[in-house]
Amino acid sequence: MAQYPPIMKGMPVLLHGGDYNPEQWLKQKDTIWKEDMAFAKKAGINTLSIGIFSWAHLEPQEGCYTFEWMDEVMDMLHANGIKAILATPSGARPPWLAEKYPEVLRVNNLRQKMLYGGRHNHCLSSPVYREKVAQINEKLAQRYGKHPALGMWHISNEYGGECHCPLCQQEFQDWLKDRYGTIEALNEAWWNQFWAHRYNNFRQIESPTSPDWLGENENHGLKLSWRRFTSWHHCDFYVHEIEPLKRITPEIPCTTNLMSTYPAIDYFALGRLLDRSSWDNYPAWTGTEADAEVCTDTAFKHDLMRGVGDNKPFMMMESSPSAVNWQPINGLRRPGTILLQGLQAVAHGSDTVQYFQFRKSRGNFEKFHGALIDHTGRSDTRVFQEVCAVGEALKTIASVAGSSAENKVALLYDWENRWALDDARFVTPQKGYEQTVIAHHSALMAAGLGVDVVDETCALNGYRLVVAPMCYMLRNGFPDQVKTFVGAGGTLVLTYISGYVNQDDLCFLDGFPGPLREVAGVWAEEVDARPPQLTNSFAYEGKTYLCREYFELIHAQTAEVLSVYQSDFYAGMPVVTKNEYGKGCCYYVAARTGTDFLTALYRTLTREQGLEPIVPGLPQGAGATLRVGADGLEYRFVMNYLPEETRVNVGPPQRDLLTCHTVAGETVIPPRGVLVLVKE
Ligand code: GLA
Ligand code: ZN
Repeated sequence: MAQYPPIMKGMPVLLHGGDYNPEQWLKQKDTIWKEDMAFAKKAGINTLSIGIFSWAHLEPQEGCYTFEWMDEVMDMLHANGIKAILATPSGARPPWLAEKYPEVLRVNNLRQKMLYGGRHNHCLSSPVYREKVAQINEKLAQRYGKHPALGMWHISNEYGGECHCPLCQQEFQDWLKDRYGTIEALNEAWWNQFWAHRYNNFRQIESPTSPDWLGENENHGLKLSWRRFTSWHHCDFYVHEIEPLKRITPEIPCTTNLMSTYPAIDYFALGRLLDRSSWDNYPAWTGTEADAEVCTDTAFKHDLMRGVGDNKPFMMMESSPSAVNWQPINGLRRPGTILLQGLQAVAHGSDTVQYFQFRKSRGNFEKFHGALIDHTGRSDTRVFQEVCAVGEALKTIASVAGSSAENKVALLYDWENRWALDDARFVTPQKGYEQTVIAHHSALMAAGLGVDVVDETCALNGYRLVVAPMCYMLRNGFPDQVKTFVGAGGTLVLTYISGYVNQDDLCFLDGFPGPLREVAGVWAEEVDARPPQLTNSFAYEGKTYLCREYFELIHAQTAEVLSVYQSDFYAGMPVVTKNEYGKGCCYYVAARTGTDFLTALYRTLTREQGLEPIVPGLPQGAGATLRVGADGLEYRFVMNYLPEETRVNVGPPQRDLLTCHTVAGETVIPPRGVLVLVKE
C-alpha cells in the first residue's frame, strides 16, 4: 500500500507537537496559556499531547471530577487549530488512590511492597486499579468524544515494569494453565526433571526473583514464561484501557508510546493492538563524528518501531528539542541536530515530529529537561528558533505524509528470541543480540538498501532478502515460513547460533540449525567464544576480514563454501557458505564479523539479487531511505549524519523539496543536512 490515510481525520499533513502540561500553570493561565498558543503558532505546532499525568487534576478525590480546566484547554486548542492527543492518565496515580487501595501498588521481584511514588508503580492485576482506570477513561471519552479538538487517544505513558504481588502470582498461574493445560505438559516443556523441579500443581509456581539467592532465577522455562506473561499482561491492560474509548469513540485512533527495544514487552504483539505505532526517541547525541553511530542506531529503532506498527506511517511521539536530564552527560544539541533528528524520523516513515516537552516545568524532577519554551518564556531562544525551522521544514514537505516504506529487505528482531538468548548459559553472558542486529541493519543501509524490521511471526512474502541474525529460538511456524520464502526464490542470511532451541527453549536434537539445516545446508557442530582481542580471519572476494567473539564450527553439507577460517584448530572450516534451496538460497555466516564484511556481503547480494539501492555508493556517515506516496511518487531522503559536509552521488537530476533546488550527480550535503528528493 503506497498511500495511507492521515493518522488523524482531517490532518493530511506532517504533525508537529509535543507533551503539553497546562495544568502546571493553572494559576497563570491568563498569561501563560495565551503565550503558549502564540508560541505554538510560530513553531507550526498542530498537535499537543495533553493529560498524560493529569489524574490528580481530573479526579482530585475519588469520584469527584474536575474537567473544567481540561474543557478550557480543549476549546483553546481547537480555537488555535491544534488537535489534542488526549491521554488516559494511568501512567501515574494520585495519592488518594494508593492510600485508599494499597493493592494498586506493586510488589517488586524481592517481594517488597512498594510505597506510593514514581510513575509506573501499579499492579496490572488489581481489580480496583482496572476499575478506576476504566472509569476515568470512560469519563474522558464521554466528555471529549465529540469535541472537535480530539484527534487521538494517547494510552497511558510508556507501559513497563512488572509486579510480583499475590494477585499477579495467581494471574501468572492461571495464564500458565491456559497455555499448558496440565502440569505434566508444563513440566515437560520446562524440562523440569532437571534439579528436582517437577511441580505437582500450578499453585506451586512462583514468579522468578532477582537476585537468584532469594528464589528461582535459573529455570529457563519459568523465566521465559514470566517474560511472556508480563508482556501479555501489558497488552491485556492496553485492551482494558481502550475498551471504553473504542466503544464511545470508535473513529478516534489509539496509540501508546513505545520505547524502541525496551526488553519487557514484545512490541510486535502490542503493536498489533495499536492503530498507529508511536515511540519516544532520545538519541545520546555527542556533537562529534560519533553522531554517525548515534544515527545508525536510531535508524534501526525507527525501522523497528515502524515494523511493529505493520509498516504504516508511525509517530515519533517524543524527542528532546535540547538536552535531556537523565543521560550520563546531558549536553546541548549542536545547531542543526534537532532538524536532523526530526527529518530522520520522517525519512524512516514517521508522520510526526513531537517533543517532550512543550514548556519547561518550573519545579520538580523535569524542570531542566529540554523544552520548546524555556523558563524565560522568550521566543528568541536558540532552541525555539530551531524548532521553528523544523516546523517550516515539515510544512514544506507536507506531501510526504501518508507515504509508506516499500522495502524489499526484511531484518529480524524478535523479542522472544532475545529473551531466550538472555537466559542461555553458554558462549558469553551478554550475547550482544541487539548490537548484532543493528550491525546488520547499518550494513544493509550502507549498501543503500531500505529495511523493514520484522519478527518471526510476520509474513515474509513480498521480500526478496531476509536477514535473521542470531536466530537462536525458532518459534512455531517460523521454519516453515522460511522454507516457503527461500523455496520460492528468496534469499536468506543466517548467522552463528541460529536454530538451537524450539519455542519451549528446548534444544533441537538433530543438529543445529535445527529445522533450518536443510535450507542452510550446514551443520553447526560447536561454537567457540574468545575475548575480543583474540581474532580470527577469513578472505571474501579477495579481501581479508577479521572475526571475533563468536566462532561456530560448521560443516558444509549441501552448501558451497565461500570462505574459511584462517587460523586456530578450526582453520579451513567454513565461515561463509551459500546453499541453493528450491528457487532461492541461504547464506550462512558462522562468525561474528565487523560491519565492513557485512557491508561487502550486502553489496554483493544487492547486485546478485538485482535489488535497487536507494542511493548507490553512500559514503560513511550518510544514510538514505525511500518513501512512496500516491501514484508511486518516490521521496528519497539523503542524510548527512556528520558534523561536517559530505558528498553524495545522488544520480539523475532530482528536486530537493526542502530547498527547491535541482541536484544531480555528486552533491554537497551540509553538516547534519538532509535532502528530500523527488524526480523532476
Ligand atoms: C519519557 C517520558 C516523558 C518524560 C521523558 C523525559 O520518555 O515518557 O514523560 O519523562 O521521558 O525524557
Ligand atoms: Zn500485582
